[in-house]
Amino acid sequence: MSSKTLLNLKKPVVVIGSGLAGLTASNRLVSKYNIPVVLLDKASSMGGNSIKASSGINGAGTITQEHLQVRDSPELFLEDTIKSAKGSGVQPLMYKLTKDSKSAIAWLQDEFDLKLDLLARLGGHSQPRTHRSSGKLPPGYEIISKLSSKLKDLQKENPKLVDIKLNSKVVDVALNDKGAVSSVKYVDEQGSEHDLETSNVVFASGGFGFSKEMLNKYAPHLINLPTTNGQQTTGDGQILLENLGAKMIDMSQIQVHPTGFIDPKNRDNNWKFLAAEALRGLGGILLNPLTGKRFVNELTTRDEVTAAIQKQCDKYNNITLLVMSEKVYENYKNNMDFYISQNLIKKTTIGQMVQDFKLPITENEIINDLQTFSSSDFIDPFGRSSIINTFGDNLKEESTVYVGEVTPVVHFTMGGAQINEKSQVIGNDGTALAPGLYAAGEVSGGVHGSNRLGGSSLLECVVFGRTAADNIASLF
Ligand SMILES: Cc1cc2nc3c(=O)[nH]c(=O)nc-3n(C[C@H](O)[C@H](O)[C@H](O)COP(=O)(O)OP(=O)(O)OC[C@H]3O[C@@H](n4cnc5c(N)ncnc54)[C@H](O)[C@@H]3O)c2cc1C
Ligand SMILES: *[C@@H]1O[C@H](CO)[C@@H](O)[C@H](O)[C@H]1NC(C)=O
Repeated sequence: MSSKTLLNLKKPVVVIGSGLAGLTASNRLVSKYNIPVVLLDKASSMGGNSIKASSGINGAGTITQEHLQVRDSPELFLEDTIKSAKGSGVQPLMYKLTKDSKSAIAWLQDEFDLKLDLLARLGGHSQPRTHRSSGKLPPGYEIISKLSSKLKDLQKENPKLVDIKLNSKVVDVALNDKGAVSSVKYVDEQGSEHDLETSNVVFASGGFGFSKEMLNKYAPHLINLPTTNGQQTTGDGQILLENLGAKMIDMSQIQVHPTGFIDPKNRDNNWKFLAAEALRGLGGILLNPLTGKRFVNELTTRDEVTAAIQKQCDKYNNITLLVMSEKVYENYKNNMDFYISQNLIKKTTIGQMVQDFKLPITENEIINDLQTFSSSDFIDPFGRSSIINTFGDNLKEESTVYVGEVTPVVHFTMGGAQINEKSQVIGNDGTALAPGLYAAGEVSGGVHGSNRLGGSSLLECVVFGRTAADNIASLF
């Protein structure tokens, strides 16, 4: 019997979740190792929150950085990561994340033809290392599109190797009497239960930012915040893994983003579209609707901007106005046009803004404030150092401004089931919990500690999704 036939006698690996972690593990298992995969997702389409990612994916020492003459190293990236983690998390996981970041980016570029040729320097990073591709597609959408279509191609070539089941919600994972993974139970669209026999399962089921119950359990002070996470983000994986005996880590560490858009047509929706940090980075300011004045350095850390909004705009439902100039619009045109088309940003005038939001301040005062802010010798009392794309010095009531309402949102859950450097889920004694039990991506914990650096969650999906596949293959 050839080894390939032997392989085909083995039970498929079950991957739970079709975001970047699940698609990475699946592609790697099938294309590199010819190991059959069943990919389950409870949603009706693939991509989870990964498809929404808007900034990009981190890598240190990459070809792109070499081309753009950025001097970076895994050691520098590790330092930044440890600093951001503020003493929480698991340093060997951070070491692996940063050391494998170069090969993770190379893998995406080589196997999936992703350019990832542009870099940004996000907050907390000492070098530009967040990769995205030139062109119109946002990074999460582009990466998920390529990985999902590759998996579907592999399925066409060899239907026995890939089985993708959407609308299929995993409700249980069973271990056998030896304590090893033995089966996965899921419920299909019609509500029927199915059991899949398997010796290996990869949890790639994402975070829990949409679940009020989970927030209530781990971070009750955040329960009233809306979220940028999709409605599928309910921590199913964390709950199942904890029941199996997994060691949970950093569950109360939740990243709040200061700016999610209020949709004027659906103000109370728990889900909010993210108002990208770039809107402030490129020049946007925040005005307090209760005063019509600025109140914070818009570019300080996410937690400080959030605290300022909750303190100062409390009586306005923690909503603040994001106000941008024509120059911000021109500099960020594709994205701005999109936000405008969704009614999240309105093109308006200074006078109209004062009326619409009933600001307790005259047009002339606002014009004065904006002109002062725009003058070249302005020193910000709140400490903002990057003041670009300002409003100009010849403002009138009719001058154009772009305005959106924004509010703090739950954005990312750092905690989860602790894994080791092989992506094995570990138990409370610190060793692998069960043969065949793996986790990767936001469902896992320990990689970010108290605070995730922008661009590092897509990276953890690729690094630990690949590792899960490699370790399954080595024992298959
Ligand atoms: C708006 C936004 C922008 C972001 N931008 C960036 C960025 O630029 N860079 C970055 O690094 N990170 C970014 N992040 C964070 C990042 O996108 C996510 O943390 C990461 O993609 C999580 O990937 P994942 O594969 O672990 O989970 P997901 O991509 O969320 O996928 C999980 C999947 O599991 C499925 N699932 C859940 N439970 C079950 C179940 N019981 N049975 C079956 N299936 C189940 C879900 O339906 C979902 O499809 C952003 C997040 C958001 C919300
Ligand atoms: C504003 O946020 C703070 C902190 O989360 C919260 O205590 C307060 O209730 C919020 N105010 C409103 C009106 O939602």
